Amino acid sequence: MITAVSTSRAEVIKWMEDFVNEKMSEFLKTVEDSWQPADLLPDATLDNFFDELKDLRERARDLSYDLLAVLVGDTITEEALPTYESWLMTIDGLPQDPNGPWMRWNRAWTAEENRHGDALNRYLYLSGRINMREMEASTQYLIADGFDLQTDNDPYRAFVYTSFQETATNISHRRVAQIAKKQGDNMLAKLCGHVAADEARHAKAYKAFVGKIFEADPSEMMLAFEDMMRKKIVMPAHYMRELGVDLGKTFGHFTDAAQRINVYTSSDYTDILDGLIKEWRIEALTGLNEAGERARDYVVALPARLKRVADRMKVPSLEYKFRWID
Ligand SMILES: [Fe+2]
Ligand SMILES: [Fe+2]
Repeated sequence: MITAVSTSRAEVIKWMEDFVNEKMSEFLKTVEDSWQPADLLPDATLDNFFDELKDLRERARDLSYDLLAVLVGDTITEEALPTYESWLMTIDGLPQDPNGPWMRWNRAWTAEENRHGDALNRYLYLSGRINMREMEASTQYLIADGFDLQTDNDPYRAFVYTSFQETATNISHRRVAQIAKKQGDNMLAKLCGHVAADEARHAKAYKAFVGKIFEADPSEMMLAFEDMMRKKIVMPAHYMRELGVDLGKTFGHFTDAAQRINVYTSSDYTDILDGLIKEWRIEALTGLNEAGERARDYVVALPARLKRVADRMKVPSLEYKFRWID
């Protein structure tokens, strides 16, 4: 371990290279071992394609409006992957050696993620229930608009963010899978289940990165965790918008739909935070300086506070007409 006194973030990140290497083989899959969207959707080279397509469309006909809206929002979020990859590349202190573990991690993580948008997009296209042009315009907007995750290019804050966010996407894709199954679409359920399983592995990896940083630089890591939680974790697609609709409107309606069908709620937010506090054994952390102790106190008390707020929140009932769905 390197001592906390002399550590700079860049030193810690450099020191983690072997660890990242190890986690890469533990938590990412090789191309050979990966599922591909084609494994989960009708094969257009086969004669039975039209029959399978017809079945797919029949199943999709029974999917609820809110579920479709959430699926489109999730797809747009996944399709904005170029933003996330370039964001990771700009984090301060990440060694830029293309053959080093950090850059290999970024590419391999991106390569896995890229399948998610492909699979969801193709399903939605085949389903016949989506105005694809409107959805594609939203994706183009989101990539062009970019985002501000409030991580200030700081690796510590960035990995708090990804730990949180990959867990959130695991929950939401898993819930969409469950609902799709209930509504009779097993193909969609399986597809979302596969995406959710990827997100779970990614979440584990990022949580392990933060756990490792806590070993080397506990006070600074604690302060970064506190700072992210004070600012609140924003979703990567918070600038999501539709053609001809004012910025800021669409995303709110998307999260309302997700709340309504219990795909992702404010109590999930609190549960994720609770899980991170346990995962990183925040309450038992030693070696914190005074500021670190104060940050710890804030974070440990936060779930109870958030729970009280969440209990008072009403599930939004307004149904909004998205341009994505005809
Ligand atoms: Fe994803
Ligand atoms: Fe992800």
